[in-house]
Parts: sequence; structure tokens; C-alpha cells
Amino acid sequence: MVLIDTHSHIYLPEFEKDASQVFERAEKEGVNKVLMPAIDSSTHLSMIGLEKQNPERFFCMMGLHPCSVKDNFREELKIAREYLDKRHFVAVGEIGLDFYWDKTFTEQQYEAFHTQVEWAIHFDIPIVIHSRNSTDECIKVVAEHQKGKLKGVFHCFSGSVEQARQVIDLGFYLGIGGVVTFKNAGLDKVIESVGLEYVLLETDAPYLAPVPFRGKRNEPSYLRYVVDKLADLKKSSAQEVAVVTTKNAEKLFNLIN
Ligand code: NI
Repeated sequence: MVLIDTHSHIYLPEFEKDASQVFERAEKEGVNKVLMPAIDSSTHLSMIGLEKQNPERFFCMMGLHPCSVKDNFREELKIAREYLDKRHFVAVGEIGLDFYWDKTFTEQQYEAFHTQVEWAIHFDIPIVIHSRNSTDECIKVVAEHQKGKLKGVFHCFSGSVEQARQVIDLGFYLGIGGVVTFKNAGLDKVIESVGLEYVLLETDAPYLAPVPFRGKRNEPSYLRYVVDKLADLKKSSAQEVAVVTTKNAEKLFNLIN
């Protein structure tokens, strides 16, 4: 079985002590590629450093996370843009809106989001969207920019069946991770109503570990629990889920050379 973890912050300090074991377990479960979303300039270097160690396996995105949009966001955007001008990244991410913790910088979050969507169109790479408590708002921003060239994924999709339909109609994928294994998360209905061809697998490690590890540190090898849950919901096999979602990830992020 070959799996791609399309969203994993494995460069964070949470993995400092046992990174090699984490990567070994991932390989054992068939997770042979891990895509790393950027956060801000405090973590760009550790992310890029990890990719340098194993460029066949680890792939960097570049962007400014909405939770890192503060007073200095223009400076942060400048740094991210300089990286994008210098080399190839698999996506602009993660970007978007987060209205869960703090709405102080709402206006700035919107400005950063719009700017980075334009970058993705310019570089012809996908966007990876963080849409916590802001699914409708993010759908609206994507719709404004969607003139046929924009592509990407709603990472950690947690919306309704109706919102899932809108995301798919915009040509976007749904990023599905550990939350699908949580009771009462409401994702069951969404998964039952959409085809696997619109689904990408992700962990969002170290966050959002699937059952039976809920609340613990998440890691790429746990993707297997997401696969099993999806197979269950789709009345399909784990192998089929792996084949389809891996193909989706390879296509969106242009991972086949
Ligand atoms: Ni993330």
C-alpha cells in the first residue's frame, strides 16, 4: 500500500527527539511521501532542512499560516515570496482564514489570503487552505479567484455536505484526516456523499490524531487509521482508498516526474 500524507508538520519540535523512528513507522505503513505546509519564518528553515535530508520523500510548501498573520504580516509575506521566487514548492500553503482563536487581524488575514492565492496562480501551483470556523468565507475567496486556473485543497475539511459540494464544484479537493474517526464530527455524511476522487489523505501531525490515539501526538503512520475509516464509510477496501487518494495527491501536487 502506498500512501501520501498531504499535510504534516513533521518539522516541528514535537518530533525532534524521535524523528527517525517516526519516519520508520511511516515507511512501514507505506507512507512514502509527506507534504509539509509552511507556518511562518520561525519554521521555514527547519522545514526546508528536513526536505534537504530526503528530497524524494519530503516536500515543502511555502506560505503564511493565517494564525501567524499579525502586525508584521507584510514582512512575513515578503519572506515567503522570496522563497517562492527562488525555487519550486509543491504548493502555496498553508493559507486561509482562522476565526476560531482570534479575530483581531481579520482584515489582514483576508489581505494575506488574497495575495497568496494570486501567487499560486502566478506560479501555477495549488493552494492548501486552512479554514477553521471560516469555511464559507474561504469558499467565497476561492470563488472570486477561480477563473479556471486555481487548484487546491480545503485542508482538514470540516464543513457540511452542501459546503463539500461547493468545494468540489470549484475544482478543489477535500483534505481528510483524523477527525473522520471522531464520533459526532459529522464527516461521515460528507464522505458518504462525495466520491473518493475528491479526497486527499492528511494527518495534520502533530495535531488531530485519529482514534485510538485521539488527544495524543499525531504522526504520518497513523494515516492508516484514516484509510480504514474511509474504506469502512465507502464500503470499499483500504487498498482502493489508498490507490485513489494517492493518485489524487500525485495529480494535484504534480509529484510524478
Ligand atoms: Ni496544518
